[in-house]
Formats: sequence, structure tokens, C-alpha cells
Amino acid sequence: MEQASQKRIVPVNRLVLGITGGIAAYKAAELLRLLIKQGMEVQVVMTEAACHFITPATMQGLSGKPVFTDQWDASMPNSMAHINLSRAADAIVIAPATADFIARLANGLANDLLSTLCLARNCPLLIAPAMNREMWLNAATQRNVAQLLADGVQVLGPDNGVQACGEEGMGRMLEAGQLAQDIAAFFQPKQLSGKKILITAGPTYEAIDAVRGITNRSSGKMGYAIAQAALELGAEVTLVSGPTALAKPHGAQCVDVQSAAQMFDAVKQHVDSCDIFIAVAAVADYRVAQPDAQKIKKSANNLTLELVPNPDILAYVANLSHPPFCVGFAAESENLAEYAEQKRRAKKLPLLVGNLAQHAIGSDDNELVLFDDSGSHMLPRAGKFTLARQLLQYIAQRYEGAGK
Ligand code: C5P
Repeated sequence: MEQASQKRIVPVNRLVLGITGGIAAYKAAELLRLLIKQGMEVQVVMTEAACHFITPATMQGLSGKPVFTDQWDASMPNSMAHINLSRAADAIVIAPATADFIARLANGLANDLLSTLCLARNCPLLIAPAMNREMWLNAATQRNVAQLLADGVQVLGPDNGVQACGEEGMGRMLEAGQLAQDIAAFFQPKQLSGKKILITAGPTYEAIDAVRGITNRSSGKMGYAIAQAALELGAEVTLVSGPTALAKPHGAQCVDVQSAAQMFDAVKQHVDSCDIFIAVAAVADYRVAQPDAQKIKKSANNLTLELVPNPDILAYVANLSHPPFCVGFAAESENLAEYAEQKRRAKKLPLLVGNLAQHAIGSDDNELVLFDDSGSHMLPRAGKFTLARQLLQYIAQRYEGAGK
């Protein structure tokens, strides 16, 4: 079995990491470390308020470069720190970005070094908001963020959860690992730009009666990660999802369904215009022939349900007269190679992704084996996002190779 080439995702890129004055500034140290680990060259710039939360000495120690905090830094021979620093960067990342700093950015204010170099930039700007939930929900902040999005600024997060102040809600800065991934993704070539990708994800739910149903164990995490990875490569993504507890990937067109029949209808509606179809959903193989509209009353007798097979959505798409490039998933509990390759041939798929169900269900990481005409290729154990990125790059290459 061949190990799929572990391409380095991120070439060396030059970043300005701007830190503003919020408690989440402590996470900026870990973020800096991860960015450097990914091969980036990082110049740290801090606001005065940020220096109350974390010291420039820490950031200098981690980045190996002096940290700039002052517009009037005498070490800049031309006294133009804002121009010099922004011209030397491929992108500026502000993490954390406080409500105040976001307001200043949205209004084009330039009253310290960091805001001035943002205004003077000719490179992309990414911000990671971090603030109390009421500050985040405040109409002024929402207006400012909407303005920044309209101005082409990338907004990463915020996250939902417990906050430093003890309250709970939206406003937490994304964790350093997630931010490092999002920043790396930003620099990825948009290999699937202009391509339409249709993805099924999650389980399906087949009603038995008004309150009971049959379903599969599937969190939807892999399918959602694949949708996210496809968006990062510039694709236009439609995500048809069975019931999950996951947040929708920002930028995808999402269609929520319950049953396999509904998933089939949604796929038929969107498949005509798509270039690539990735069937990640754990579709129930059977549904109840005649679900009861009312709750079935419990009795001492045995209950027999008549089950009828559901349509095979992937097989239907793969057998269209002009099918998109079709990718299937197979979760097996044993004999992965044998069963997966059999499935690939039976469904006439150019690519099938196999995994062991016991390694995958509900977990945040997994390992995948890709089966195609050239043999089998291993994607070793990693987080589902990392795997999704590697898989999408593989799909993009195969799609191009197929002359689609
Ligand atoms: O269930 P099975 O192992 O056959 O699933 C293999 C692939 O077929 C998966 O990609 C799954 O999403 C897809 N499938 C489907 N419709 C079904 C059953 C499976 O699209 N009814």
C-alpha cells in the first residue's frame, strides 16, 4: 500500500501577527508558535493595550524578531513603520481582534501603529474576533463586522462557549490550532475554483412512527470537514445533510434533510450542474414500508416492521449518462480493502474512500484508505480536517487527470 504524498500544505509566507488588548491575547503565543511550525515568517505587532495582557518579550522570544508596538519606533530609519511592515507582509492577521479594534478598522481609523498599518496595507487582512458575548451581539459590533466582510476582510470565528468573564456564548476567540489551520488554508492555491461540488453528509432518519425512527451512527464530522476543505480550495459547495449537531460550514449552500428519500430528492435537484459528487452520508439501507403517523402503543406482543430498501443515491448518480466525478465512502468493520474495492467496482466509482467504522464514528480523527484504478493509498491517522484537506487535494488531482 502506498502512502499518499504528504504534501507540505503551506509554503513559507510572511505574516504580520497583530495582537490587540483582550484576555485572549494569551492564546496568541501558541498561535505564533504554530504558525512558525508551519513554516511561516511572522512579524509581531502589538497595541499598547495588548502589552497589558502578554509581554512583547514573550512574543519576541517565540518569533525571534523584535516586536513593534510604537508608531514612532526609532529603529525604523525612515520613521515609516506602518508602510515598511505592511509591505513586507503577504497577509496581516489580527488575533485577538477586540471590539474596539474592529470598530476602528471598520471606520478606517489609524491612531496607533497596528491600525495604521492595516489602513496602509496592500495585502489581505484576517481577523479573529474575541470579546464578551454581549459585546459581540451588540448591534454596533455586528454592523462593524458586516462592514469589514463587505470590505473583503476575512473573519475567522468567533467561537461559542465559556468566556473568560464566566458568561457563555459567542465571542470566544477560536483556539490557536483552529486559527493556524484557517490561516494555512487561506494560503492554499484555489485548485477547485469555479467547480461545483455536491456533498452528502450525516446519517439519515427513517421514521417508524411519530416519535421513533431508524438511523445510523454518524456525527457528520467527516462530511462537514470535506465541505470546509472544498470551500477552502475555492469550490462552490452544496451540502445535503441529514440530522447532525454541527455548525454549517460558512459559505456552503446547505440543504437539511431527514430521510434517505429526501436526501435522494435533494441530490437529484442539485446534481445536474455539479462537477464532483462526494457521498459521505451514512444512508440507511432500509426504511419502514408504512410508518405510522401516530405513536405506536406498546403491547406485550412482538412487533414486526416491514422494511423496504432505500434507493442507492451514489449508484444512481454514478450511473447517470454524464455523471460528475463520483467519490464514495465505505465504512467497514473488517476486511476493509476487499469490501471497499468490491464496492467501488459495483458502484462504478473512480474513487472510493475506505475507513474502519470503529476508528471513525464520532471521533475527531480517523485514518483513510483511498481506492482507485492506481491501487490503494493510505492517509495516516490525523484530525478529520487535515484528512479532508489531503483528500480534497487528491480528488482535485484525480479530477484534473480524468480530463473533466
Ligand atoms: O452503505 P454503503 O457502504 O453501500 O455506502 C457506500 C457509499 O454509498 C457511501 O458513499 C454512501 O454515502 C453511498 N450510499 C448512498 N445511498 C445509499 C447507500 C449508500 O449514496 N442508499
